[in-house]
Amino acid sequence: MPAMPTWIQLVYLACGVCFILALKGLSGPKTARNGNIVGAIAAVVACLTPFFWTDLHLHHIPLIVAAIAVGSAGGVYGARTVQMTQMPQMVALFNGVGGGAAALVALLELHEVIANGGNAPWFNLAATAFTIAVGSVSFAGSIITFAKLQELMTSRPVVFRGLPIVFGAALVAVVVLAVLLVNDPQMWAGIVLGMVGLLVGVLLVLPVGGADVPIVISLLNAFTGLTVAAGGYVLSNVLLLIGGTLVGASGTFLTLLMARAMGRSVTNILFGALRGASTLGGGEISTRPVKSVTPEDAAIMLGYADRVIIVPGYGLAVAQAQHTLRELVDVLGERGAKVDYAIHPVAGRMPGHMNVLLAEAQVPYEQLREMDQINGDFKDADVALVVGANDVVNPAAKTTPGAPIYGMPILNADEARQIIFMKRSMRPGFAGIENELLFDEKTSLLFGDAKDSMSKLLNAVKAL
Ligand code: TAP
Repeated sequence: MPAMPTWIQLVYLACGVCFILALKGLSGPKTARNGNIVGAIAAVVACLTPFFWTDLHLHHIPLIVAAIAVGSAGGVYGARTVQMTQMPQMVALFNGVGGGAAALVALLELHEVIANGGNAPWFNLAATAFTIAVGSVSFAGSIITFAKLQELMTSRPVVFRGLPIVFGAALVAVVVLAVLLVNDPQMWAGIVLGMVGLLVGVLLVLPVGGADVPIVISLLNAFTGLTVAAGGYVLSNVLLLIGGTLVGASGTFLTLLMARAMGRSVTNILFGALRGASTLGGGEISTRPVKSVTPEDAAIMLGYADRVIIVPGYGLAVAQAQHTLRELVDVLGERGAKVDYAIHPVAGRMPGHMNVLLAEAQVPYEQLREMDQINGDFKDADVALVVGANDVVNPAAKTTPGAPIYGMPILNADEARQIIFMKRSMRPGFAGIENELLFDEKTSLLFGDAKDSMSKLLNAVKAL
């Protein structure tokens, strides 16, 4: 490859700065949209730049353009049609494609090195081997996580006798093949390394189940970032190096933050099932008696309350009841109540799920309160209105050692004077375990789809 001209290096540097600014923007709801646009523009500029690098003498331009067109069309279609609740699957797919692409580019680079006599610095060959292996792990792992989240296969941990031994042997094979490849670059070694990487990816993710699957996506995302960064080193491409490092670092942080918010360690998430620990409850539906109320009863509790805290959860997203909920909160505010939304870090199915959902309904940012900020307020709340949430208020996280969510910090909805749960049935939440709070004497259940119930509740409060 010819030396990169200074103007291209400067363009790539500017794109790298834009990626950093994009991440900064994405860290807050007010700036997220602009951050996203800045990052997207930088990515487009980065993809177009090689076409203007005349010394590069690009071959197969129609094929490259066709590939970009197909990829862009698929990306735009996917982004426009995906449901908010299916976002983790989409991230898994995109991530897998990124890891797979990086592994293929590294294989091509290996082919080039071999065609030129096999003489390359050992560190470049090591980076190539790393990219092939980890990119393949990321690709296969992401496809399995996609299949689990899309329910194309069971979302429970899949473990078979001898799995730890096969997994360990595959890891050893990866190391041996990588050492072989660095010492004597051979195409067969690269291809077998990629195939064993695929096997490692599958075996890594199969034993992960339930609520841990989205955390693994984030970890695989970090893997893809590191793969792309290593690819950037091999190709002497500073932008891939910067972009890959940013993805690697942010994916690692996100993994650790999500694991902490769920009260789990990353090793427990990855290897818990191998040690026999369950990551999901049985999902049994309770038949114990509960107190159920009509929308009119719930409206009286809410309409005469001074302090109300809303606990939104996954069911709010499923029902798409966020707009009606915001209307209800507005009406309660007009009646003199102080109302806030309590946001649990892992409410819903992806990081920031509730923030995105409520921002879409134009909820003022000041009403969104993080768990640590709001937890002390529940004891003064007249009503905690739990809309399609379950695990994030389940006291088993504090009281039941051995429960899948034990150790996860929860919202203190149980401390409110009255609790209203809006849900459709007695089915448990994601963790598949019973929630004792549903049977508390302070608790009332308003059964039904959250959107339908919310409309009835809104009308009943307006009629007071
Ligand atoms: P969940 O515990 O999953 O509870 C959701 C509740 O919504 C269920 O009780 C369900 O009961 C109800 N529901 C579903 N559809 C509904 C509808 N259309 N109308 C009304 N209610 C509906 O949700 P959560 O409290 O938000 O907790 C999130 C869980 O996901 C945690 O276990 C967390 O660890 C896990 N998780 C989160 C993330 C991130 S990063 N957010 C990632 C992975 C896993 P019915 O079926 O009876 O209606």
